[in-house]
Amino acid sequence: MSFRDDFKWGVATSSYQIEGGNLEDGRGKNIWDEFSKMPNKVYHQHDGLIACDHVNRFKEDVKIMKDLGIQVYRFSISWPRLIPNGTGKINPKGIKFYHDLIDELLDNGIEPFVTLFHWDLPLSLHRQGGWLNPNIVDAFSEYAALVAKEYTPKVKHFFTLNEPQCFCGMGYVGGQHAPGWKLNHHDSLFLFHNALKAHGAATRALRDNAKCPIEIGYAPTSKPIIPKNNTKEAIEEARKQYFSIPSLEEPYYFYPALFSDPVILGDYPEDYYRNFKGYIPEISKEDLKLINQPLDFYGQNIYEGIKKIILEHNEPHTDLNWEVIPESLYWGPKFLYERYNLPIYVTENGLANADRISLDGKVHDPQRIDFLNRYLLELQRAATDGVDIRGYFQWSLMDNYEWAEGYRSRFGIVYVDYSNQKRILKDSANWYSTIIKSNGDSL
Ligand code: FCB
Repeated sequence: MSFRDDFKWGVATSSYQIEGGNLEDGRGKNIWDEFSKMPNKVYHQHDGLIACDHVNRFKEDVKIMKDLGIQVYRFSISWPRLIPNGTGKINPKGIKFYHDLIDELLDNGIEPFVTLFHWDLPLSLHRQGGWLNPNIVDAFSEYAALVAKEYTPKVKHFFTLNEPQCFCGMGYVGGQHAPGWKLNHHDSLFLFHNALKAHGAATRALRDNAKCPIEIGYAPTSKPIIPKNNTKEAIEEARKQYFSIPSLEEPYYFYPALFSDPVILGDYPEDYYRNFKGYIPEISKEDLKLINQPLDFYGQNIYEGIKKIILEHNEPHTDLNWEVIPESLYWGPKFLYERYNLPIYVTENGLANADRISLDGKVHDPQRIDFLNRYLLELQRAATDGVDIRGYFQWSLMDNYEWAEGYRSRFGIVYVDYSNQKRILKDSANWYSTIIKSNGDSL
């Protein structure tokens, strides 16, 4: 057994990281437009105003995907491109852009998987408190309803939130991401709860307004804990740790149970109530019901894992210093499937690398091929062991704006020369294409 016959091979991107198109087409400002210009926040104060100029070049980008044999494309809609102020008035040019993109994808046999929120919060909502303001729940569901009305039945698969760990945790607690706040524990937990309610309300709004049956999931991230060895005890220890939530003094928001237990199991885990006592917001039964909407699948972005051994040597690292731990694509999906019992999509996975154009005019990225090969072999092992894995989205189709890291590092299988917006296929793009053709058998 390997990957299922209908396994979906894809790539992922997000709106602010690739779209550009400046603001002339009526897109409202988002929190990254402002955050990127604050001193010492983003590498060289890079911003996404031009990025990959995807709004003007999407046809070329879709053609690249088609030529590579990409079957599914996960992209996000920019909330302020559709609704510039977050609620109310709609931007017709924004609505049209996504129709054009979706039509182009469908004409080329590529299935769209749409993420509603990949971090580009409308700035005017931020001025009203953003995710800290409980009204965000209604605003987000208004936006979700619009997306469903406009883009179904063409789009049948949706993700609500991308990585609440990052946009809530790093955005509002750690302060490394927009809007750069460092909230106290009370406010942080209140904000997380709002984000989860927004997920639930948007899930409902998508279903209520869709013109056809649709499938919905969300796309959190985590760093799976790798068991020390293959004994039953070591595996249980790793599982326990992965689903625990440490004290508030650590970056507790990266642990999956905090954001996934309420969404999928209907309540926060015991650790939450025990470790965060004194800081927990009011949580009503209705809240928990709203958060716990039935989902069709569970997405997970996985780049790294945590190995419980003392590292004696310098283990492999990426260009952004993330540890290369291929087993995370075995243990992550396995543990998550066993706990949450939903079909799984790996919604992001890929390598940051210092790619450049060689003298021969090509971009050679053997590190990325090796990275993807190792990780995908582990995912294949999980599938063979019976984990219900439906698809894999490589991050990313093309080099793009890597948030606080600006354009300093490259994640694409397609190189973008930002001086002239030329796209060059990296070796990894051709490699990935052959893997897709064999449905992973040639790994
Ligand atoms: C994830 C984000 C994505 C991208 C990758 C490298 O945390 O979801 O936008 O930046 O990391």
